[in-house]
Amino acid sequence: MIRTEKLNKFFGSTQALKGVSFEIQKGEIVGFLGRNGAGKTTLMRILTSYLPASSGAVTIDGKDVLKDSLAVRRKIGYLPETPPLYPNMTVRDYVRFAAQLKDVPAKGISAQVEKILDQCYLRKVAHRTISVLSKGYQQRVGIAQAIINDPQILILDEPTNGLDPVQIQRVRELIKNLEKDRTVIISTHILSEIEQIAQRVLIIKDGEIVADDALSNLLCDEQGWQQSLEEVFLRLSQ
Ligand SMILES: Nc1ncnc2c1ncn2[C@@H]1O[C@H](COP(=O)(O)OP(=O)(O)OP(=O)(O)O)[C@@H](O)[C@H]1O
Ligand SMILES: [Mg+2]
Repeated sequence: MIRTEKLNKFFGSTQALKGVSFEIQKGEIVGFLGRNGAGKTTLMRILTSYLPASSGAVTIDGKDVLKDSLAVRRKIGYLPETPPLYPNMTVRDYVRFAAQLKDVPAKGISAQVEKILDQCYLRKVAHRTISVLSKGYQQRVGIAQAIINDPQILILDEPTNGLDPVQIQRVRELIKNLEKDRTVIISTHILSEIEQIAQRVLIIKDGEIVADDALSNLLCDEQGWQQSLEEVFLRLSQ
């Protein structure tokens, strides 16, 4: 479903991605792990067509993301590292606006907006202006805009960043309870989050993929002993 081939990305003389290739099948929940500056956000921005790669290709269902960027953006729900919010809008108006942008059919918009406000625990603040919300609430508004059109593919860049422990748990439940055939890519620095949500893990180090495996395989060393994700991560990422 999502296929990348030898992606390279340069920012001036900095090479943020080095020959990144992988395939993600429909329904997979994949965690991106890597230290600060490893290239996770850059990779997500390229997958969602918000940033062109310097070389290499990304296809989604066989279509090039850059050539078909509008169609791709409709298919994908994307929570960027910094949510794209309009601070002067109320939460409800903004979520409605996101629904219109993503072509949710006009007849169903009101019901869909209310459903998502509930799913993201935003009902209490639906009438408030986004700029006065706390960081965690703003993050939840960002999640709401990402899932407003029930996208087949969800790409979430540190979705629980800034949330309180109760909300972190709720967002994890929300992701886990998405329909079965939904494809999810999530980046996080919280390793337990990956253990709870992901079936597959990609570890990125200095722009290169240093591990791409099922979580259960990754947690088993060569002798068959169980190891923690933290041990694996510390060994492979520095
Ligand atoms: N717009 C840009 N211009 C110049 N360099 C950039 C730009 N965006 C990213 N980089 C560089 O690319 C590299 C990868 O950054 P990226 O934001 O993808 O890392 P990350 O894995 O998401 O890190 P973090 O965990 O801190 O979010 C870094 O060296 C960063 O400085
Ligand atoms: Mg990042």
